[in-house]
Amino acid sequence: MLILGVESSCDETGIALYDSEAGLLSHALHSQVAMHAEYGGVVPELASRDHIRRVVPLLREAMARAGRRLGDVDAIAYTRGPGLSGALLVGCAFAEALALALGKPTIPVHHLEGHLLSPLLSANPPTFPFVALLVSGGHTQLMRVSAVGEYELLGETLDDAAGEAFDKSAKLLGLPYPGGALLSKLAEQGRSGVYELPRPMQHSGDLNFSFSGLKTAVLTLVREQHEPLSEAFKADAARAFQEAIVEVLVKKSLKALKQTGLKQLVVAGGVGANRQLRAMLDDEARRKRFRVYYPELEFCTDNGAMIALAGCLRLQAGTPAKPAGSFAVQPRWPLMDISVSGTQ
Ligand code: KG4
Ligand code: ZN
Repeated sequence: MLILGVESSCDETGIALYDSEAGLLSHALHSQVAMHAEYGGVVPELASRDHIRRVVPLLREAMARAGRRLGDVDAIAYTRGPGLSGALLVGCAFAEALALALGKPTIPVHHLEGHLLSPLLSANPPTFPFVALLVSGGHTQLMRVSAVGEYELLGETLDDAAGEAFDKSAKLLGLPYPGGALLSKLAEQGRSGVYELPRPMQHSGDLNFSFSGLKTAVLTLVREQHEPLSEAFKADAARAFQEAIVEVLVKKSLKALKQTGLKQLVVAGGVGANRQLRAMLDDEARRKRFRVYYPELEFCTDNGAMIALAGCLRLQAGTPAKPAGSFAVQPRWPLMDISVSGTQ
């Protein structure tokens, strides 16, 4: 069974071909980061227009790399939500129209289900069940992943996502968008302990997060300084911010493992690239005897491969593909709506 996957929920256009027997055959991706950087954040209308420009060339690229023809495709999976409505509509219209022309069915996929299943694309995948820490620019969630379609939300952020907190704090320190990775580089030059920032919700007793206070704490630090900010201050403040956020992410992940009794942790999403987060989790994993999995970065951030995979696994788990031709997206869509273990 050959599945074509289409992702367009935010600022990445992704197309992939996944074969149920041979695995991932090819994937092609275009990131809009450089385009949005000029505006300091994602501009939804520009995102939609760029998806329109990229989607057909990316399809050609993915087909050519896999050495397959459109007629070989058995079904088209695409991200139905959650995400930016205009951006989602581009992928949906493209996938539904192509499927209609080919006489093939479609599989609308939940974007977060794609992220949760993406570790299965790795050469060394985890086995079900596992705990997933999903930390991206848009999401911060801890989930128990028991099987395809069996997800339990253990905790999530009550306000900003972890990546959003990184990006906003980076902006406060004068770094360009998206500043998460730059802030983390700067933090490596900073001194530990110069500034103490709060560890929000660390002792809340649950698995939820809150990061907006941390960003405000960075703002307060910045306001106490004389402009222009010195390089030493920026590095020390970045260090303090990163230490605080990483500590909370690690503590809550450990708590989720303890609470579920599971021994495998999967870290997905762009913040999973953070070196301090990885070092601390690896250290804890050695001490507490659990395994941490970091999917390759190209599958951590938004991509078409995870959507093709999720579509394929859904079909194999018995969810029927639907006839092509209905153009509906779901910009807001709780993951629990598609999970059998979510109906508590
Ligand atoms: O998964 P992703 O591409 O998600 C979204 O599309 O939202 O993740 C992007 C997020 C951004 O907020 C970015 O600043 C952050 O991941 N990020 C990092 C690092 N690399 C990317 N945050 C902390 N440390 C990094 N090394
Ligand atoms: Zn995503």
